[in-house]
Amino acid sequence: MDKLVIEGGKKLRGSVQISGAKNAALPILAASLLTEERSVITNVPPLRDVQTMIKILRSLGIKIHMEEDQIIVQPGKYSGFTALYKIVSTMRASICVLGPLLASKGKAKVSLPGGCVIGPRPIDLHLKGLRALGAKIKIEHGYIVGDGKKLKSNRIYLGGPFGSSVLATANVLMAATLTPGKTILENAACEPEIVDLANFLVKMGAKIKGQKTHIIEIDGVKKLNGAHHRIIEDRIEAGTYVLAAAITKGEITIKGACIGHLGALIDKLREVGVVISNIGNSIYVKSTRNLKPVDITTLPFPGFPTDLQAQMMALMCVCSGISVITEKIYPERFMHISELNRMGAQIMKEGSSAIIKGVPKLSGAPVMASDLRASAALVLAGLVAKGRTDISRVYHLDRGYQKMEEKLSRLGAKIWREKE
Ligand code: EPU
Repeated sequence: MDKLVIEGGKKLRGSVQISGAKNAALPILAASLLTEERSVITNVPPLRDVQTMIKILRSLGIKIHMEEDQIIVQPGKYSGFTALYKIVSTMRASICVLGPLLASKGKAKVSLPGGCVIGPRPIDLHLKGLRALGAKIKIEHGYIVGDGKKLKSNRIYLGGPFGSSVLATANVLMAATLTPGKTILENAACEPEIVDLANFLVKMGAKIKGQKTHIIEIDGVKKLNGAHHRIIEDRIEAGTYVLAAAITKGEITIKGACIGHLGALIDKLREVGVVISNIGNSIYVKSTRNLKPVDITTLPFPGFPTDLQAQMMALMCVCSGISVITEKIYPERFMHISELNRMGAQIMKEGSSAIIKGVPKLSGAPVMASDLRASAALVLAGLVAKGRTDISRVYHLDRGYQKMEEKLSRLGAKIWREKE
C-alpha cells in the first residue's frame, strides 16, 4: 500500500490543469449501455473508479478500450445484465448501470451496494423512480432484480429527506430516454455532472428539456445512437486546488476550472479573505491576508458541495476564530475530524455540525485517510502543517484525484509517494 508524505510550509505558486470529472464520467459510461452503437468519450480521468466502471461494462460483455483520457465503448448486442457484488461493493456508483440495463435489455440484476464510510447511503429513490416508470423490482439475495420490459412514462417526484439525489436522477433519467411517452422528474438533481450526462444523452438522440433545473422533461425515443462527448472538468478537484492555494497563502491559476460550478465555495472564500477571479476558463486564486472564520452548510447544487466539506474544514482549522460547518447531505461525513485534531486542530462535532476553533498552526503527524474527500483534507492540512505528515491508505485519494502529488509538486509543494 502507498502513503503520501508531505513536508509542510511551502506556498503554492504556478498553474495547474484540472482533469475530467469522475462523477460525470461514471454515469456517462453507464449511459453508453443504452445503445448498440459505438461511443467515444474523451477527457476521462484514468482513476480507480473509472477502471471499476470499465470492469463492470466488460463483465456485461461490452468491448471497451481506454487510451490516455479517451474511452471507446462498443456495446454491440451485449448479453450481460448482472453487476456482481464483488465489483459493486468496491464502488457505489456502479448502481448507475441499473437504469440503462432495465431500459435497453429489459432486465437487470445489480448487487446492492454495501456500507459506506461517509454514512448511510440508501437507494430507495433509485428504486422508487424506476418502479414509477413501470419497472418490476425485487430484492433477492443481496441483489436488485428488475424487469423493465414494460416501461411507461410518468410524473415522478424524486426528492428525499436530504433533497435531490444525483445518481437516482441519473438512473431514472437514463431509463426514461427509452421509455415511451413524456416523463417528468420533479426535484431532480441539477448538479453539473447531471447536466453533462443529459448533454451526452441528447447527443445520443434523447429528447430532454430542463436539465439545468429541478424539473427535467424527457420524451422517450425508440432507439439511441452512439455519440462523441468530452467530459466536463472536475469541479471538486478544482475546488480542492482553490483551497490548497488559500491554505498555503499561495497564488495559483487553475486551468479548465469553471467558476459557475464553484459559486458557493468562491463566495465563502471571499468572505474568508481570499482573492479569487475568473480569467477565461481559469480561476486565479491569491491568499495573502489573515483568514477570517465563516459558517457553511452543505446543500445540493448550487449550494456548498458536500464533496468539498472536508477540504473546507482543513482551511477553517487555520482561520482565526470560530467556524461552523453543518452537513445537510451526509450528516455523518466527519471521519476527518479526529485525524485533523491529531494534527493540532480544535474541532468538536455537535450532531450534524462541526465547530472549528482556528489555531495559529497545525503540526505534521502520521494520519490515516478514511475516504476520498477526507484524504484530500488531510493533504491540505499537511501542506500547511509544520513538519512532516504521513498519510496512509492513500488508495482512497487515488479513486478521485489524478496525479495529485505530481500536480502539487509542480506548484512547489514538498510531497511524495512511498510504499508503506
Ligand atoms: N439519498 C436517499 N435515497 C436515495 C439516494 C440518496 O435518501 O435513494 C440521500 C443520500 O443518503 C444523501 C442525499 O440523498 O443524503 C444525496 O445523495 P446522492 O444520491 O445525491 O448521492 P450519490 O448520487 O450517491 C453523488 C456523488 C457523491 C456526492 C453526492 C452528493 C457520484 C458518483 N457520487 O453520490 O460523490 O457526495 O452525489 O453530491 O456522483 C465523492 O465524489 O466523493 C462522492 C461521494
